Amino acid sequence: MIGRLNHVAIVVPCLKTAVNQYKNDLGASVSNKMELKDHGVTTVFVKLPNTNIELLEPLGKNSPISNFLKKNKIGGIHHLCYEVDDINHALEKLCKKKYNVLGKGIPHPGAHGKDVFFLHPKDFNGTLLELEQK
Ligand code: CO
Repeated sequence: MIGRLNHVAIVVPCLKTAVNQYKNDLGASVSNKMELKDHGVTTVFVKLPNTNIELLEPLGKNSPISNFLKKNKIGGIHHLCYEVDDINHALEKLCKKKYNVLGKGIPHPGAHGKDVFFLHPKDFNGTLLELEQK
């Protein structure tokens, strides 16, 4: 069911510093930053030949990643995103298997405007998973 690894998301304490590291020290191609107010994050995508790295910084007081940063002060890997051909089919299949879907439990537009949903880390060896419509 799952296809390409679309991105690895890393929560960072300072987006500017992280962008400089990827751009200037690692020589990567980096997107402009996007403020996603609905998601409470500012993101930058690092484009690699085989996948992307999503750098995430909290935006606003109620950012869903603020707690993560409190527990992981220097930042850390937050989630992995796999592409699927049919997001609704994937959701249905995983719900039947009693996996815990986060939030409202329905696909919603993610950082690329494509529908996504998240699966609880307790079900997947401590890894938060995002599934994204290809
Ligand atoms: Co993501």
